[in-house]
Amino acid sequence: MSVQEFKRRRRRLMDAMDEHSVAILPTAPVYIRNRDVEYPYRPDSDFFYLTGFPEPEAVAVLIPGREHGEYILFSRENDPKMETWNGPRAGQEGAVSEYHADDCFPIDDIDDILPGLLENKSRVFYTMGAHPDFDQRLIGWVNRLRKQSRAGIHTPGEFVALDHLVHDMRLYKSSFELRAMRRAAKISAEAHCRAMQHCKPGMMEYQLEAELLHTFMYHGARSPAYASIVGSGVNGCILHYVENSAKMKDGDLVLIDAGAEIDCYAADISRTFPVNGRFSKAQKALYELVLAAQYAAIEQVQPGNHWNDPHEAAVKVFTQGLKDLGLLKGSLQTLLKKQAYRRFYMHRTGHWLGMDVHDVGDYKIDTEWRVLEPGMTLTVEPGLYIPAESKGVAKKWWNIGIRIEDDVLVTRDGHEILSAGVPKTVDEIEALMAGVKPSRRAKPKTKSAGTRKATK
Ligand code: GLY
Ligand code: MN
Ligand code: MN
Repeated sequence: MSVQEFKRRRRRLMDAMDEHSVAILPTAPVYIRNRDVEYPYRPDSDFFYLTGFPEPEAVAVLIPGREHGEYILFSRENDPKMETWNGPRAGQEGAVSEYHADDCFPIDDIDDILPGLLENKSRVFYTMGAHPDFDQRLIGWVNRLRKQSRAGIHTPGEFVALDHLVHDMRLYKSSFELRAMRRAAKISAEAHCRAMQHCKPGMMEYQLEAELLHTFMYHGARSPAYASIVGSGVNGCILHYVENSAKMKDGDLVLIDAGAEIDCYAADISRTFPVNGRFSKAQKALYELVLAAQYAAIEQVQPGNHWNDPHEAAVKVFTQGLKDLGLLKGSLQTLLKKQAYRRFYMHRTGHWLGMDVHDVGDYKIDTEWRVLEPGMTLTVEPGLYIPAESKGVAKKWWNIGIRIEDDVLVTRDGHEILSAGVPKTVDEIEALMAGVKPSRRAKPKTKSAGTRKATK
């Protein structure tokens, strides 16, 4: 962990604020799973992005231009008894020496200290609604100051959305962040390969999930970035299927959407493959259509293109392809206008990716789609979903759910596919599942300069 990187981020944020302002960021609370059992702890992404401080019960306060230190942290006090049970805490000294806070106070003293830090400031940068209990406490501190107005104390008059500033910073990944994302993607790609290699008819979906988790954990990713989806047959048509409880049948496809989290950075990869290792004719036809849509969409990930270009490219390929297969009928133009593909492709082609799997950052500026710039990372994940009994659809297409999802970085002259380590052509997948050695398979394509386009 680079303390300098966190320091640079705080500096950049404070440079965008003014000297009459203060930013307040609480980290995430510990969530109870049941009775005495807690969910594994994960800090708030914005808080961690600016502090690198991993403990719960912490609040960061940034006060640009404050003479006695601009970065103040509230954290848990050292407590030998609690530390015997739950492990060491940085304490106030550690927060200063290891995490470079200018000043650190016990979290239990925040009621006494924080109002004083707000006094005579004009503006408070704060994200409302992310942690509702903390919203209430902040309102309480401000009200306390208001009551002292006759003593000449000035209460901040403006509350400004902090997320807007931080989320724009988070949209552009630094080389430090990309290192973590590349690692998360590499581990996840290896996990998908392992799942393909272990898959056999008659296995349970959760047994494939176990193979994914094995690789994640083995490489130090203690948690997936989101609940893993392992959906075979009709379950592949349920977009957020997480039960993973069915027996996988010979002749079905299985859709896996799973990614590891490394140092609070996510990977998000989907692959779809035949449970028995061989695509049927109908499965192959639809699979190759999804793959063609994905290639077309990835080709649009270029600096200067806009956010929606990959989606538009995927939708065009889908509409033509579904028409060619007889799944849509009518003229291409009318089908596109009516968005007829939505019956089989009901989600969008991707989202920003970073500390959060559905990462932060605006997709539109005013009414215009955002222009892609180097350092932005996004997923490209077209899919087709045809459940059983689909009206007017030939039976051979039923129970086919396919998604192919990669993690893509916008580079100066094109893009880089971070998740290229897991095969996705029919031949590559069948070869891997048949146990053919990687050296005999085609090398994955990671970088493409593509054609640079003018800003739209
Ligand atoms: N894994 C969630 C998604 O693909 O958006
Ligand atoms: Mn996904
Ligand atoms: Mn995704």
